[in-house]
Amino acid sequence: MAVLVLGGAGYIGSHTVDRLVEKGDEVVVVDSLVTGHRAAVNDNAKFYQGDIADKTFMRKVFAENPAIDAVIHFAAFSLVAESMKKPLKYFDNNTAGMISLLEVMNEVGVKRIVFSSTAATYGIPETMPIKETDPQKPINPYGESKLAMEKIMHWTDLANGIKFVALRYFNVAGAKPDGSIGEDHNPETHLLPIVLQVAAGTREKLQIFGDDYNTPDGTNVRDYVHPFDLADAHILAVNYLRDGNESNAFNLGSSTGFSNMEILKAAREVTGKPIPAVTAPRRGGDPDTLIAASDKARKVLGWKPEFDDIHKIIETAWKWHQTHPNGYADR
Ligand code: UFG
Repeated sequence: MAVLVLGGAGYIGSHTVDRLVEKGDEVVVVDSLVTGHRAAVNDNAKFYQGDIADKTFMRKVFAENPAIDAVIHFAAFSLVAESMKKPLKYFDNNTAGMISLLEVMNEVGVKRIVFSSTAATYGIPETMPIKETDPQKPINPYGESKLAMEKIMHWTDLANGIKFVALRYFNVAGAKPDGSIGEDHNPETHLLPIVLQVAAGTREKLQIFGDDYNTPDGTNVRDYVHPFDLADAHILAVNYLRDGNESNAFNLGSSTGFSNMEILKAAREVTGKPIPAVTAPRRGGDPDTLIAASDKARKVLGWKPEFDDIHKIIETAWKWHQTHPNGYADR
């Protein structure tokens, strides 16, 4: 048995490949390297560079690796703000990419897929914490492209028997504790890496987007989860499908919310740096608060997140930032 990891050179994909290899699994990685980094991929995984929408290429990957019995799919674009400006880029790469992939999986008879979905499929939540059964009404093309992928999978399960697990992540932060792999986006738009770039001196100051939200300190509240714990959830989800279970969807978060100001304060404590910050206007499309109800993943998959402390999460990210101020260019 082997796992095919699509987008295995990206932030969460590379941590998952690493965990799979550590557990002794056979791992095949496909990544276009448009946003991923070859250096992020564990040396013990077999690597192919290519696009998942290229059916000839994907047929070759499956043909050369007949042990593949499950796919983990991370190969998508994920920036909310960019998706508002370039919706077709998201529907093409994310949604059309999924259609093409499912066609090839159906042809070659691989019938299990674990896929990165997102809290962005819920839109503006009506109640908190957010449960998997809550309404999914995305407020941006990114969330819509992922919701469409979930729906497509539902119908291909019924028609073609391709079983899926959709994992709806909340905010991902942190790096491998030994500092060898971490977060490297260009451009960087996420809160914690930007805070740590300011701490490391490679960025002048943090802009906090909005301080008049309906939250205790007026800044957005988010639920942070470490990529190691996400990786473990993917591995549990593959085993859940291998055990013959039905398709399902799970939230992955810590069930605890931190405001942007609380993240800044915790980062100042961890790094010992002043981290200058200013208040800036709201960024479009940010809901006040996003906190996951993630008891379903704990109960059904047996998921036990290890990183339940925001200071521990920030410490791992800080180690990566200090040793790789220019990301993978420093490896
Ligand atoms: N923020 C700032 N300043 C910055 C960057 C971010 O104040 O320089 C704020 C944002 O406005 C938001 C919070 O920090 O309030 C978190 O923003 P991120 O960009 O780090 O993350 P998002 O919540 O926008 O999105 C992330 C993923 C999405 C996913 C979502 C789910 O990028 O793919 O979490 O909660 F859908």
